[in-house]
Amino acid sequence: MMASNMSENKLLNILPDMKHCHKGYAAYCSKTTKWQEMQKWTESAEFDSNVVGNLSKNLSANMDQQIRVLGIGSGEGILEIYQLRKLATKFPKISASVVEPSELITKYKDTVGRNPVADNITFEWHKQTFDEYLASVACHGSDKKYHFISVVHAVYFLGDPDVSIKKLYKLLEPGGIILLIVVTDHTGTGSIPLHQSGLKDDKITNNLINSSQVKATLEKLHIEYTQSTHTEIVDITDFMTNDDSEEGNFLLDFLTCTINFRKSAPDDVRDRVMCHFQQGSRIEKTDDGDAKISYNITSDILFVTRGDKAK
Ligand SMILES: C[S@@+](CC[C@H](N)C(=O)[O-])C[C@H]1O[C@@H](n2cnc3c(N)ncnc32)[C@H](O)[C@@H]1O
Repeated sequence: MMASNMSENKLLNILPDMKHCHKGYAAYCSKTTKWQEMQKWTESAEFDSNVVGNLSKNLSANMDQQIRVLGIGSGEGILEIYQLRKLATKFPKISASVVEPSELITKYKDTVGRNPVADNITFEWHKQTFDEYLASVACHGSDKKYHFISVVHAVYFLGDPDVSIKKLYKLLEPGGIILLIVVTDHTGTGSIPLHQSGLKDDKITNNLINSSQVKATLEKLHIEYTQSTHTEIVDITDFMTNDDSEEGNFLLDFLTCTINFRKSAPDDVRDRVMCHFQQGSRIEKTDDGDAKISYNITSDILFVTRGDKAK
């Protein structure tokens, strides 16, 4: 009896369940302004100066060489394609390695197969986790390093940031740059008050790694970085207005980082979370005149540069 009560109350973390996580992510992708916002951002002066400009300054002696780019947790590659397109305007040759453990890598491959990003880019595909990738390169005795590493909303899956950031940094060429995009702790999923719910620690699973933790790690390791903030909007109308919407509930699961949140959360926790969404959202009109409930997700964009001070 006791065991059954415990399992009823247990909020299961979505991250280890890749299938559920991808369904949540797909629901998120279809309701967010992320794609337009990130495309604009990659075209902006900020990306140009912090990534393209700084890389070409740092690597100017080697400009005739090819630059090596690594994507970790690339998904279907939409954002990396924007980034590669920009890099290809500056660097004569790019070799891009993609590390993505899920089937999404096939979509990425198909997209660049159908629509080549640029003539000067070649791809290497690794359908692996980051750790599997590291183990396989170690096994081949390779010491390959990269000039640009893109980790967009993927650091959550890499385990303890004190360990994963060190591993990423070790893969960076001197003068190279890591782009880390990570949700902040004071907004979006990080602010959902599951941790204040009064549940015991072992039943609280919204332990998404956030940008404060990543920045604390960078500072501890004396790794140089600069930062800016990015906001995208997600349409949460489905789960706010219809308890039975399948897509809405996947989105709710993704935002709370919890499997079957609506059904598995105790009433007080669910009420708190729904109240959080209600207070933190706003009602807008769509082009068709319908009402839409919009919620902001804020992330930090961290530009890590390989200097020589890191421990
Ligand atoms: C939230 S998605 C982000 C995808 C893409 N970067 C974007 O922003 O559109 C996280 C991605 O990390 C991948 N992933 C999960 N665990 C991973 C691991 N251990 N190593 C590398 N990638 C991982 C997932 O399959 C997923 O495609």
